[in-house]
Amino acid sequence: MIIDGKAVAAQIRAELKSRTARFFEKYGRAPALAVVLIGNDPASEVYVRNKIKGCEETGIRSLCYRLPAAVSQEEALALVNDLVRREEVDGILVQLPLPVQIDAEKLLRAIPPEKDVDGFSAENIGKLARGEEGIVACTPLGIMELIKRCHIDPRGKHAVIVGRSNIVGKPMAMLLLNADATVTVCHSKTKALAEECRRADILVAAVGKAGLITADMIKEGAVVIDVGMNRKEGRLCGDVDFESAAKKASYITPVPGGVGPMTIAMLLSNVCAAAEARMK
Ligand code: GUN
Repeated sequence: MIIDGKAVAAQIRAELKSRTARFFEKYGRAPALAVVLIGNDPASEVYVRNKIKGCEETGIRSLCYRLPAAVSQEEALALVNDLVRREEVDGILVQLPLPVQIDAEKLLRAIPPEKDVDGFSAENIGKLARGEEGIVACTPLGIMELIKRCHIDPRGKHAVIVGRSNIVGKPMAMLLLNADATVTVCHSKTKALAEECRRADILVAAVGKAGLITADMIKEGAVVIDVGMNRKEGRLCGDVDFESAAKKASYITPVPGGVGPMTIAMLLSNVCAAAEARMK
């Protein structure tokens, strides 16, 4: 089964449309997301455009702020601080990566947890680690939603995550652990990657290396989730060699059209949730 992330994301966006309508009826305004884009990284431009398009489709107000690549830390921080103070702004997203002169950690720390719709803050990650309610990073949250809507229950399953980033690998491990999976996290120093992967009932590849996961690393009937977004000869491809892996997997996500659309859908969902929580 190929998991159609595009279709699931469209369904979630439709659900969000009525959620934002209810919000508008109750509070007389739309939930609002502020996006900060610094510089002109081409991939970031595409991501931000899609995020704003998603807002428009779901009745979320989007405020886009573009700063030049050479902007100073002080100026960037002043913008974020202004967005933090503004009552009508429910979520703040600073698109990554940032130019070298910007201290990303310092800039992101200015975003309070209740407006941190990326779920990157120490407080939100801490809550996730403790199994408490908070805002969860969009990509891992989208993967959990895909798994759920395919009626796959992680309980008691062996989940193997390849990649230990703060944005995907680590929060993914915590979500699967919270869903009662047995979790292994692999990374660049892992000794026997293929062997570890072959133990997986649920395999999540989030490394950024085209074709790293081949069919021989996949257990028959495993669920394979590909988070990779690699450019190869002008084409987008994942971390999994899809053609061969699809023959062994019970469920597999394609690239593009798998996890990617879910990331944006969950961002929009996080904005709605943040707006509702702030108005309570
Ligand atoms: N750059 C790549 N992925 C992401 C993401 O999920 N959030 C932000 N803010 N920037 C990114």
